[in-house]
Amino acid sequence: MDFNSFLMNFNNFYQQEAFSGHQDHFKNAIAKRSDPARHGDLPNWLSILNALPEVSAQNIKLDRDLVLIGERDEINDEQAQAIHAGLLALAPWRKGPFSVFGTEIDTEWRSDWKWQRLIPHIANLEDRTILDVGCGSGYHCWRMLGGGAKYVLGIDPSMRFQIQHRALQKFAGSPKFDLLPLGIEDMPSDLPIFDTVFSMGVLYHRKDPLGHVEELFGLLQAGGEVVLETLIIDSDNVPSGVFTPSGRYAQMRNVWSITTIEKTLELLEQAGFRNARCVDINITSTDEQRQTQWMSFHSLEQFLDPLDHSLTIEGHPAPKRGIFLADKPAV
Ligand SMILES: C[S@@+](CC[C@H](N)C(=O)[O-])C[C@H]1O[C@@H](n2cnc3c(N)ncnc32)[C@H](O)[C@@H]1O
Repeated sequence: MDFNSFLMNFNNFYQQEAFSGHQDHFKNAIAKRSDPARHGDLPNWLSILNALPEVSAQNIKLDRDLVLIGERDEINDEQAQAIHAGLLALAPWRKGPFSVFGTEIDTEWRSDWKWQRLIPHIANLEDRTILDVGCGSGYHCWRMLGGGAKYVLGIDPSMRFQIQHRALQKFAGSPKFDLLPLGIEDMPSDLPIFDTVFSMGVLYHRKDPLGHVEELFGLLQAGGEVVLETLIIDSDNVPSGVFTPSGRYAQMRNVWSITTIEKTLELLEQAGFRNARCVDINITSTDEQRQTQWMSFHSLEQFLDPLDHSLTIEGHPAPKRGIFLADKPAV
């Protein structure tokens, strides 16, 4: 596959009736994000994708923590080796885990733990049209499909995650899931079609947290639900309700808005949501986010103060996350 055919390869998405009035918008936005000049690794990634064997998974199980795309006994040894080598060459893998024809991708994050924390609280996903903003390579999108979603659109500007998704889709071939290489700011402003919108791990990367919550509001149908997961901070540390680290936070450069629980609820109500509530609070552990064979760079262990894990290496409160739900009023 060359670069141009890669760019064109969102046909399944363009066939979705719901987006038919916005095709030019999406084509332009994707072309801008996919500019080859911005992605020096793209030719290498495309050749890795091309070298993956042409096999379709017979067994796909999405309603379990280890998302299964193909069993080992569906393919021969040569294909198994090629799949293992190809997927490893696309590392680092951040969000998972996945099992792909016998290759277990033990990702940096146990993303299944977040899913377990939120699933008891959210509206049933059966038959819903869903948007996952900042979906990474799509682990939670697969879980949404496993929960019975009608269709899932994931968006994430990272081209590496796009390629990782393409590798998994090459084997799974699900027509109910598309992942576009876009940021939330690239979405049309007049597309209130989703029954559930997830934004997990994105709000604190945004400089205008209210603007982000308003964008989510604008993409939901009346009566829809937002699932907002974000870093939070105790209110006694931050009277304004929004903490902006002056330098890095847990080694991340792009952290702008860590909010208190009260401020997050206020933002949701301010954007127009009703019944805003915090349903889960969790301190991220070094068992949930860690170095693995599939993500060999530094991870949370190295981002915390070695003598005091309640602090980041920069001396800020260590990562704590909240899950918030709210409803867009029915008209
Ligand atoms: C911390 S990760 C969270 C991934 C996943 N949602 C989860 O909860 O495990 C944040 C993701 O947001 C993506 N991201 C960053 N800026 C974004 C934007 N403006 N719009 C959408 N996604 C964005 C990043 O590429 C990254 O994959």
